[in-house]
Amino acid sequence: MSIPGTLIYLFSLAVLSSSAVQDETLAAVCTSHIQLFGSLSAQLQEATQCTEAQLSQLNMTQTAAMLHSLRTLTNALHKHQLTACQGAEPSACPQVEVHTNGGVVCATIKDVIYCKPMCNNGYDFNFLRRRRLYEVCSGAKNHKWTTSYIGGNKLAVCHESSVQISGAETSYFPEGLDCMKTKSIGNLREMIINKFLDELKAESIDGEPEYTCLVCG
Ligand SMILES: *[C@@H]1O[C@H](CO)[C@@H](O)[C@H](O)[C@H]1NC(C)=O
Repeated sequence: MSIPGTLIYLFSLAVLSSSAVQDETLAAVCTSHIQLFGSLSAQLQEATQCTEAQLSQLNMTQTAAMLHSLRTLTNALHKHQLTACQGAEPSACPQVEVHTNGGVVCATIKDVIYCKPMCNNGYDFNFLRRRRLYEVCSGAKNHKWTTSYIGGNKLAVCHESSVQISGAETSYFPEGLDCMKTKSIGNLREMIINKFLDELKAESIDGEPEYTCLVCG
């Protein structure tokens, strides 16, 4: 599909989801869209390559309709994405409140959850944590998160910074990648998780990981 064709296709999806459509039809449309989401995702990625000049082929009504649909979809998908670590045991441990501008990679080994906060490229931690790679939650710690950040279940904060010096080298997503981009590419996601497992192993925390996840703020 050509780029304008893709945009018109996306636009018609936006029209389909307008409130004018009956609930029942909408449910059917959404169910069939579950299968469509694979190609929609690829087409959206293509659409992100469009130049401003190409995008200007859309009129302001279409532009606003697209923005409205994309924002609605972004919010719903992000909410879903945030549940990525919900299956981690022990379940008595509170869900990590993921910081923005980064993410958290977690692994459960022998009933202990280890979570390493990470910052996106171009962001840095507000506390020095070079020797503090990860935080821990377990029954032995009364199912509370260790944290150097006074925020309960928030393990870290990432703020905009031209230098990345507060954390260990592996606490940053590689240049040109942020958490979500990394998570969207299977082998990159695996690489980040495996790196963390290696780091745990280096501290004699080994054993078969029962659960691993990456969640982006
Ligand atoms: C914008 O484009 C759509 C689809 O081509 C058309 O239906 C609509 O009338 C246009 N709106 C304006 C304000 O030009």
